[in-house]
Amino acid sequence: MNFPHLFSPLQVGPYRLQHRVVMAPLTRMRADRSSFAPRPLNAEYYAQRATPGALLIAEATPVMVTGRGNPGTPGIYSEAQIAGWRGVVDAVHAKGGLIFLQLWHVGRVSHSSFQPGGALPVAPSAVAIAGNGMLAMTAGGKMVPYETPRALETDEVGQIVEAFRQAADNAKQAGFDGVEIHGANGYLLEQFLQSHTNLRTDKYGGGIENRARLLLEITEAATRVWGADRVGVRLSPYGIANGSGEDDPMPLYTHVIKALDQLGLAYLHFIEPRSSGAGRAEVNWQNVPSAMVLFRPHWRGVLISAGGFTGETAEAAIAAGHADAIAFGRIFISNPDLPRRLRDGFPLTPYNRATFYGGEAAGYTDYPVYDGMATA
Ligand code: FNR
Repeated sequence: MNFPHLFSPLQVGPYRLQHRVVMAPLTRMRADRSSFAPRPLNAEYYAQRATPGALLIAEATPVMVTGRGNPGTPGIYSEAQIAGWRGVVDAVHAKGGLIFLQLWHVGRVSHSSFQPGGALPVAPSAVAIAGNGMLAMTAGGKMVPYETPRALETDEVGQIVEAFRQAADNAKQAGFDGVEIHGANGYLLEQFLQSHTNLRTDKYGGGIENRARLLLEITEAATRVWGADRVGVRLSPYGIANGSGEDDPMPLYTHVIKALDQLGLAYLHFIEPRSSGAGRAEVNWQNVPSAMVLFRPHWRGVLISAGGFTGETAEAAIAAGHADAIAFGRIFISNPDLPRRLRDGFPLTPYNRATFYGGEAAGYTDYPVYDGMATA
């Protein structure tokens, strides 16, 4: 057996993981196109990747209709969506796996074609995503410049908290084992955290404490539904996805992580800066800080990290105490039996980026398990 640290048990909240290979949340845009409910194809995909006592984190899932920004992403705000997710969860549980749902609001990373009545997307402030090659996807799948979002009123921010709370409750009804709050990758909660996207002057803007307020209120709302030990949070300090980026991330993220640390959560989950934007392009930024190395001293609980890991680097990170578990994204897409391949040293099947988003079974449920014949 390879990688003794990666393949040792780990306690995450009430759950005893059999190994530390976690499936990262991965948007695949293959839900039902009208109800945005997961369907049997999605259940098959997750079940293929489930192993006994191992954690899968389901794809980012909008908590309300204004939180949508991509065609074919599943929601968790209607009965049909809850029922669809129940099919996914049951299939994962039938294989002995565990599954958390990632709760999402895209904020300004949207387009009016997704919004009720064709309204503008909402955000902390009316600041559009700009920059080289930064384009929005419309509901019809066209790429267009981003619109300037509408700043949320203070009482509307309370409605966002309530939508996350309701979504956490819906995830419980669907049978999930827990939820992860998506505070990463330039989406709504990160837009509130960071100074260039949050120009507010109310209690949700200004200093670091105010900018962190929404993420903390939402996390606490989820813990009231689930208990803190079944709630995780994902952050991407030093990330640059979707026009994000804080000039000086250390004070902001130190404050946020220390505040989250008080809550006794199931885990904290990082996207390593070197892989920021991996969803859009093959990136491997050099000479950037390591989130897990920088922030581990401020976090007493379970720490999961993701971003370009191999079996070797995952083993080394856990052995060094930088992380407790490693989430794998792209290579979990193309290797449904990834834990076994890593453990037994089998070759990996390369992924095909062209089939990451949208479509049917091709590039989704048709990647083979290792049969002793395939070569990487
Ligand atoms: C992602 N990523 C991502 N992150 C997240 O928090 N929620 C999501 O829904 C998605 N969706 C997504 C889709 C696709 C196709 C990719 C490639 C990536 C980021 C992902 O979880 C992970 O952090 C990165 O891919 C880096 O890990 P790997 O791929 O280097 O192992």
